[in-house]
Amino acid sequence: MAILSYAAIIAALLCFLYIFHRKQCCRYPLLVDYPLLGMLPPLLWNLWRVHDFVTDILKIHGGTGEFTGPWFTKMDFMLTSDPTNVHHMMSKSFDNYVKGPEFREIFEAFGHGIFTADSEIWKYNRSLFHTLFKNRNFEALQERVVQKKVQSTLLPILSHVQKQGTEVDLQDVFNRFTFDNICSIVLGCDPNCLSIDFPDVACEKAFNEIEECIFYRHTLPKCVWKLQKWFQIGEEKKMSEACTTFNQFILERIASKRKELSENERDTHDFLTILMREEKGQVVHDDKFLRDAIFNLFVAGRDTITSALTWFFWVVATNPSVEAKILEELKDNNFVENEKMLGVEDVKKLVYLHGVICESLRLFPPIPFERKQAIESDVFPSGHHVNANAMILIPLYTMGRSEDVWGKDCLEFKPERWVSERGSIVHAPSYKFISFNAGPRTCLGKDLSFIQLKIIATAVLRNYRVHPVEGHAAIPNFSIVLLMQDGLKVRITKREN
Ligand code: HEM
Repeated sequence: MAILSYAAIIAALLCFLYIFHRKQCCRYPLLVDYPLLGMLPPLLWNLWRVHDFVTDILKIHGGTGEFTGPWFTKMDFMLTSDPTNVHHMMSKSFDNYVKGPEFREIFEAFGHGIFTADSEIWKYNRSLFHTLFKNRNFEALQERVVQKKVQSTLLPILSHVQKQGTEVDLQDVFNRFTFDNICSIVLGCDPNCLSIDFPDVACEKAFNEIEECIFYRHTLPKCVWKLQKWFQIGEEKKMSEACTTFNQFILERIASKRKELSENERDTHDFLTILMREEKGQVVHDDKFLRDAIFNLFVAGRDTITSALTWFFWVVATNPSVEAKILEELKDNNFVENEKMLGVEDVKKLVYLHGVICESLRLFPPIPFERKQAIESDVFPSGHHVNANAMILIPLYTMGRSEDVWGKDCLEFKPERWVSERGSIVHAPSYKFISFNAGPRTCLGKDLSFIQLKIIATAVLRNYRVHPVEGHAAIPNFSIVLLMQDGLKVRITKREN
């Protein structure tokens, strides 16, 4: 009996010490910290609206605070949407805020690619990608590929849907479009995922599954998914199988491209060819390096564009005055009667359309959260103390909806805020308009994205009107890329000019 009482006293003491320790560690709590469960209960309760929930609580706490997960799970992190803190992490103290080993573990499918790398590996990848992206041939290739795909597949499919009078999930259409597109640009081949019968394509399915599993890892304590991986069960089994399928697809392409290039020097400018031609200089990239570079580009340039297109068409379809102004701008530039697809130089003239895309990306950033880890302890410009090794989440979604940055009308869809009185584009600093990230790790595909989005948007809007089906709720999903939970179900009608 006495032993039991001693045990109970010791347990109570340990609990007290642990609660005291947690209170010490968490100086800026965002939510109620429950014994054992930490702040998980209110988060789970609001998971269905997690982005708006985070936006609401950060507003109450002045933009910065801490979340503590269940005891002993190491799911604690700081959250900040304060632009001065973000500027501090992304630029001024860049070297102290890294992706870190935890990030690389969760995102292990990315290998040592640009997204997960830090320090020298990141610098090497960044400078290599930078050179390739600035290559004029690469921009011209992207223009040709997008124009061809829009003309040969996207518009005919929309025409088919319009004639049949059926519903279509526009998000699925864009997901297939962007997969074919990134395959053509990066690998120089088109798997034709987008076609009238919406086929199952193994490599595309595998790629989607990898992303789903990565997200799943975010929702569990590390020890749980590690155990699943060890025993090859559940989502982790799916992840291993999907990685095998996708890797096989990429490695086969690398092998056949090496053969192609050794046999004849063709005038092709896809990313892989350019990368392999570079090898004729000093550096030879092995298959692992090429695989990682390709995988990272798929992530960078596929879902982000799907997300941007889906939300763009949603906001345009639900804001008739915005749609009318886009068409007016096309008319003013004589782009309506002309059947020819618009090209890079044409779309650069479309300032209002640029504003609509920026506004859509501000309210619906394709990557809703950015994650950093502090190497050493620090103090944010807001005065908050940051522990060494602390995990920091930057909710880009919240930053796009901050009243302090965007004013009282921050939740309104107003493309005009991007157009100056003289009719030119208004540039916002990247640590405020954060959708493409900020500082030395700013998105390398920003300019290419605008070109691509404008070419697709103008081709569709000139020909068709998009009508979301009645009762369709555009709810953001809870994932690493901001897509619509139930897709974007629409009907299509022909636009009479
Ligand atoms: C609307 C479209 C896009 C958006 C909103 C976007 C946004 C972003 C964001 C937020 C990051 C930082 C991610 C992180 O560090 O965790 C990023 C990085 C990057 N993006 Fe994009 N992106 C878009 C399209 C593209 C495209 C089409 C490409 C190229 C084909 C691309 C290439 C890259 C690369 C290479 C990086 C890594 C930069 C680095 O870490 O140094 N992006 N992008």
